[in-house]
Amino acid sequence: MRIVIVSNRLPVSITKDKKNNNKFQKSAGGLVTSIGAYTEKMTELSYAWVGWPGINTTTKSEQEEITSSLETIHCYPVFLTEKEMDKFYLGFCNRTIWPLFHYFPTIASFEKEHYDIYKSVNLKFAKALNNIIDPKEDIVWVHDYHLMLLPDLIRQNFSDVPIGFFLHIPFPAYEVFQLLPSKWRIEILEGLLGADLIGFHTHEYTDNFLRATLRFLGLENHFGVINNKGRLTKVGTHPISIDYLKFNKTANSISVALKAGEIKNQFNNKKILFSVDRLDYTKGIINRLLGFEYFLDQYPDWRERITLIIVVVPSRTGVYHYQQMKKQIDETIGRINGKLSTVEWNPIVYKFGSLDFEDLAAFYSASDIMLVTPLRDGMNLVAKEYVASRVNKDGMLILSEMAGSAKELLEALIINPNSIEEIGEAIKTALDMPKDKEAQIIESMQNRISNHNVFRWVSDYLNELNKITLSQKQLESQ
Ligand code: G6P
Repeated sequence: MRIVIVSNRLPVSITKDKKNNNKFQKSAGGLVTSIGAYTEKMTELSYAWVGWPGINTTTKSEQEEITSSLETIHCYPVFLTEKEMDKFYLGFCNRTIWPLFHYFPTIASFEKEHYDIYKSVNLKFAKALNNIIDPKEDIVWVHDYHLMLLPDLIRQNFSDVPIGFFLHIPFPAYEVFQLLPSKWRIEILEGLLGADLIGFHTHEYTDNFLRATLRFLGLENHFGVINNKGRLTKVGTHPISIDYLKFNKTANSISVALKAGEIKNQFNNKKILFSVDRLDYTKGIINRLLGFEYFLDQYPDWRERITLIIVVVPSRTGVYHYQQMKKQIDETIGRINGKLSTVEWNPIVYKFGSLDFEDLAAFYSASDIMLVTPLRDGMNLVAKEYVASRVNKDGMLILSEMAGSAKELLEALIINPNSIEEIGEAIKTALDMPKDKEAQIIESMQNRISNHNVFRWVSDYLNELNKITLSQKQLESQ
């Protein structure tokens, strides 16, 4: 058996270095982190990963060169033109679906041309897959909101191949999904129903989807199974996870311990609050900064004794709301630091860029408190990574109730990210927490994540996919 993973973005993105040579860089985001952790260690199954290589269409010879170098790492590129990048990726994916599914309907745009190109790019992926899928050997696993029409397009060409779909972002409540024009929302639901198994992170997203299929397509479900004209689709909750041991072991390594020590020294053993996200208006970065400011205003004794280290990874820089968010973050940090800094202390230390894996692990290790405050987030793996990295079972996680991971990490200090006061008070609670209580909380969350790690997520998902394809065969043989 081989798994054909399909996602908009490949696990590596190609960029140009100063001499205009192609440079391979690990892609950012939860999808690549989790599936990539699995493919790195894949032993029983082989795999192919199909997706966009992160670079606009180049010359034919350059495309061939990229294709052959990617093949050595099981990757098959689907090249997008500049127009497709603009209307599909920056347009329908990131100006319509992303804001809408994250409950930002007022900034969602609804442009017919964007949707038309979304359809044609999904078709382009389906055509590329015609040359890759071997229906006798393969399982196809499509990922995320960029490719919601693809399962049905694949099904039209391969009637028997097992197809899974997983949505890495929230599936919104019926009333929000309803904001999509009726033709689009029906086509999206029908597109998804080409899959044998559709997975979501939480029961809420699963329920929202089942309600949408009932209300817009008139399809009932029986224990999560929808029978659409003789074709079965199981809809289920499969919360994604991380490679727990990788984070735990790295945090325990000598090199990371040394780096973490250096970070602590650099900040004169002050308490360290840490946060790291892709730059996104869904991540609640401004409220986090204001929450920290509130804390320093309310508890001035803590000034000069605590630092917030905030890492923001550049993302979707071609979308206006992302550019605006960057500006707002820069200004807010400038204002707070301007107001509170002393000769020896800056309350906020800010890096706009990415961290390599060891550095990330060192920051997780060095931090006393992790702040994860999204306004809405499908899962949020950073929260799980921090917990896995706490080898001494100390530290504390402040986690937004709007993140999918809050459904699992119930022991964390759960806050509403719209309340600056709740964020600020949670920082105080975390600082005052007795060590034995910290240990109890971290240990309990670690047990859960180490059991439900990314490998368990994949195997549970594939078992479920296998079960539903067997039920389909039984139904057809009746
Ligand atoms: C989220 C999405 C992924 C996406 C990632 C990075 O995690 O669920 O599908 O790849 O963000 O975003 P980008 O637009 O750079 O691919």
